[in-house]
Amino acid sequence: MAVKRRPLVAGNWKMHGLRSRSSALVADLAKELERLGATGGPVDVVVCPPYTALCDVGRELQRTRGIDLGAQNLHWEDKGAFTGEISGPMLVEVGCRYVIVGHSERRQFFGETDESVSRRLGAALRHGLQPILCVGETWEEREGGRTEEVLTTQLRGALAGADGGPAGLSVAYEPVWAIGTGRAAQGRDAQAAAVLIRTLLAEKFGPKEAAGVRILYGGSVKPDNIGEFATQFDVDGALVGGASLDPGAFAEIVRQVMG
Ligand code: 13P
Repeated sequence: MAVKRRPLVAGNWKMHGLRSRSSALVADLAKELERLGATGGPVDVVVCPPYTALCDVGRELQRTRGIDLGAQNLHWEDKGAFTGEISGPMLVEVGCRYVIVGHSERRQFFGETDESVSRRLGAALRHGLQPILCVGETWEEREGGRTEEVLTTQLRGALAGADGGPAGLSVAYEPVWAIGTGRAAQGRDAQAAAVLIRTLLAEKFGPKEAAGVRILYGGSVKPDNIGEFATQFDVDGALVGGASLDPGAFAEIVRQVMG
């Protein structure tokens, strides 16, 4: 019997949003979801604000229904001399349920490697946070016919940190060339990547566990292209950047993913 996966739409606010704006943004999102009849629907909705806004947004979310809090990264140690880092227990304390791990901007600009990603992933799972693990190839890698190899290396590398099983894990396929460019991948590319990702997950955890892992697409997702991704069999939602800063657009994406 086919496994039914509950879709997930997560908004990655990146380094956007002073505290006051963040609270207003999530309050507006709650209103937009309500207006579209998408509150508490059969889809998980998550927002990942910057660290400084987590408490404010978390407080706002206590007044609303159907939106969870996520962070954009975490360190693998629980505490210690790691200036500028944030740990799993700190995120749990402020109400996070999700955390993005291995985003390409971390890999590109902050020296994140498959090894550090695997340690961060392990920490997230250990603390009961649901990781959204990002993988994706650059344009150069794609043009060189290396997409499969890159995704395989990134995923196998990261999953070394998930020896206890994939409980709560989601994987986001985010081609680097599609992020913030307005040039989204095609639905069939996302489906092909998702099939590869699920095969690799099955290698590690077995087919039954792999069938339950949510696979998202990310990269220039907008209301006018989400339909193409949401209808792919192995794609279970989206990781949204720019459009998640627009409550109307993000709510519309959620509505379409709900079907
Ligand atoms: P955009 O939706 O702005 O392309 O960003 C995607 C992304 O990086 C989400 O993590």
